[in-house]
Amino acid sequence: MFRLVYQARVSNEAHGLCGFLVHVDDRILQMLEGPTWKLVATFENIRRDPRHRRVEVIDERSITDAAFACWRMRYFDGRNVPRMLAQMTEAAAGGVPRTVQDAVVDFLGPDLIRPVLGEAAPARPSAPPVLRQAQPPSSPRPC
Ligand SMILES: Cc1cc2nc3c(=O)[nH]c(=O)nc-3n(C[C@H](O)[C@H](O)[C@H](O)COP(=O)(O)O)c2cc1C
Repeated sequence: MFRLVYQARVSNEAHGLCGFLVHVDDRILQMLEGPTWKLVATFENIRRDPRHRRVEVIDERSITDAAFACWRMRYFDGRNVPRMLAQMTEAAAGGVPRTVQDAVVDFLGPDLIRPVLGEAAPARPSAPPVLRQAQPPSSPRPC
């Protein structure tokens, strides 16, 4: 994982891509943002990469500004969920997009989310929000 993330960061830096990886047990959730044609080409590489199997696209959409432009590929191992959620909220320009929040909550599952939220943990990744949600674009933050 160390080598993979290091290489991804170098390549993403060169191609203007950014995002994060959450690694829990033998599963990975990845968020990748950037210019469409770079992203499509890189994702094709990722999809064909023999180091993993069963690649699934949860959501893809056009955006005007990357939410996680500061992160060339931030790595989380899922051991400290509160800190991970706090760092995502802190890093996301304009707040964490709802689809990203839902994907993170869904990926972590109740066993990891419930200790963070207690009984407020959503049975399904709908309301209440775990992460601060996207707001109308504000001024860009320094990385
Ligand atoms: C889970 C996972 C995530 C990856 N994320 C990235 C990434 O964000 N950026 C990237 O360039 N390569 C990433 N890679 C590596 C690519 O699959 C591929 O090795 C890399 O793009 C170099 O491809 P190339 O040897 O065809 O140039 C990832 C691989 C895996 C298995």
